Amino acid sequence: MDSMLEVRNLSVEIGAKEILKDISLVINKGEIAVLFGPNGSGKSTLLKMIMGLSGYNKTGGEIILKGRKIDGLSTDERVKLGLGIMYQHPPKIRGVKLNQIVSFLSKNQKEIEDLSERLSLKEHLNRDINLGFSGGEMKRSELLQIILQDPDLLLLDEPESGVDLENISIMGDVLNNYLKKENKSALIITHTGYILDYIKAKRGCVMINGKLWCVGSPKEMFESIRKSGYEKCKECHEPERME
Ligand SMILES: Nc1ncnc2c1ncn2[C@@H]1O[C@H](COP(=O)(O)OP(=O)(O)OP(=O)(O)O)[C@@H](O)[C@H]1O
Ligand SMILES: [Mg+2]
Repeated sequence: MDSMLEVRNLSVEIGAKEILKDISLVINKGEIAVLFGPNGSGKSTLLKMIMGLSGYNKTGGEIILKGRKIDGLSTDERVKLGLGIMYQHPPKIRGVKLNQIVSFLSKNQKEIEDLSERLSLKEHLNRDINLGFSGGEMKRSELLQIILQDPDLLLLDEPESGVDLENISIMGDVLNNYLKKENKSALIITHTGYILDYIKAKRGCVMINGKLWCVGSPKEMFESIRKSGYEKCKECHEPERME
């Protein structure tokens, strides 16, 4: 199968601290993968490395998007190649209205109106991006932006965290409809597992202390984590590369 993303033997430090340790994973075109793991294990760092955000020191490995090595590329170049991220902690941008970024991302006025209506964000379009938005409003604003951006690989960092159940259902449906489009791929981080009820994720893995463990069915893995905790993931499977 054609790969969308390949991460090969990636190791990353922040300051003198090693955060990611020899990470390898492949996400195929059209595949949705899930990343679990305890707080501070390195999940967001992995997504930010894939996006090419600054502040990290890569000590080894490479990242390949659609067959092209992207390590030397800037974030905007990566975005042009089809990468998009929904941040765990989105930036607040004073002086730029949500409307302005949304019009930049899509010229389809009907799509903008329909989606902002569906995500209850119509009143937010005239506000500075994420400034004073509630936790759930920020996540919905992130989802609006990433869908209008129309990337091929979506990196979703806890998309449902802090969102009420009714809005999780709306966001889940919006996301599922989008991902069903041909060849869209995603890597989704979740602690709550709610998003798994809405999307068809095939594979999951667990990051513990900067290493990937245990590849399996996301729903089964989530149940096992719920019952027995993350450390059990190390016991029940051999450490395995998600390839
Ligand atoms: N700028 C920084 N300086 C020092 N340590 C950092 C910095 N950025 C991240 N870290 C550390 O790197 C580790 C991994 O952080 P990361 O945000 O990737 O974790 P995570 O798995 O996403 O956790 P969570 O589930 O809480 O979101 C943490 O211990 C964090 O404190
Ligand atoms: Mg995180």
